[in-house]
Amino acid sequence: MSVPSRVSIVEVGPRDGLQNEKLTLPPQARAELINRLAAAGLTRIEAGSFVLPSAVPQMAHTDETLALVLKQNLRLSVLVPNLRGLSDALAAGADEIAVFAAASETFSKRNINCSIEESLERYAKVVAKARRHGVMARGYVSCVLGCPYEGAVDGARVVSVAGALLEMGCFEVSLGDTIGVGAPLPARRLVERVARVAPLDKIAVHFHDTFGQALANIFACLEAGVRVVDSSVAGLGGCPFAPGAAGNVATEDVVYMLQRMDIETGVSLDRLIEAGAFACAQLDRTPTSRVAVAYGAKCDRPGDMR
Ligand code: HMG
Ligand code: MG
Repeated sequence: MSVPSRVSIVEVGPRDGLQNEKLTLPPQARAELINRLAAAGLTRIEAGSFVLPSAVPQMAHTDETLALVLKQNLRLSVLVPNLRGLSDALAAGADEIAVFAAASETFSKRNINCSIEESLERYAKVVAKARRHGVMARGYVSCVLGCPYEGAVDGARVVSVAGALLEMGCFEVSLGDTIGVGAPLPARRLVERVARVAPLDKIAVHFHDTFGQALANIFACLEAGVRVVDSSVAGLGGCPFAPGAAGNVATEDVVYMLQRMDIETGVSLDRLIEAGAFACAQLDRTPTSRVAVAYGAKCDRPGDMR
């Protein structure tokens, strides 16, 4: 068995998390959350998105949010669906953008109102322009292990969309189990399949936790050679265009699991739990992170973890 000595976490709570919460947080609270996550040691944070505000009202005012973030040892990324979104991201000073394609035609249409092919044509222009401005672009493939509208998804489609995103200049592609239907072996096999066309250090995994499989899936993918994991503080969120999907795997649970396996993340679990508590207080909700709940309940815990 081989697992890495270090894993890089991409914190998506301020975007993927907040985009699907009932309460919309104002820019001050969103920026405060990002600042707290950065203070916990997270260096890659998805801060918001420049999409149609009527489609995802929770992400309106991402420009104001970015302006309030203290920039220290931090790469702030934002989701952009088109050239209009890119212009807004550049004007707001984002360090990185993310474009988001899908492996399911129906999800693509519902999410971004175009076919997969049209989205890839659009994204090629977005990524090229971002790179001309010195801004790195990440690519997502959604519905990699199942689609809320079409059910099973062809792995070959995932491979071709991931390959196209890397080909157009994305530095990394994140494989999104948008509705959290994956399980460890299918997840691992999918990574192995994508790794035939892409270097492993360009593959990230993004698991929603609808069926409680996310941590097991992550472990299976780490064994397959993945080194970058997306997660959301307190397990916030979901996708407004994937009804019933739960939030991402909680960052606290990922960090706990990795620390207990002596895998370095650079993240302080205590400070992360505090950031999650701040988010939950703002949103008037409880964390779905089992680790945050256990720490809050002062359960027995290994002495070296605090
Ligand atoms: P559209 O209606 O096809 O866009 O929407 P359009 O180009 O036809 O333009 C219509 C109007 O929108 C125009 O305004 C544009 O200017 C405006 P009008 O002339 O009528 O006044 N417009 C914009 N306004 C602000 N920002 C923009 C923008 N673009 C056009 N960027 C569009 C297409 C993609 C914009 C829309 O469908 C949209 O914003 N969708 C939101 C998608 C979204 O945010 N989904 C959630 C994130 S994806 C996700 O969560 C999955 C992920 O986590 C991975 C995983 O879990 O698998 C990433
Ligand atoms: Mg997601």
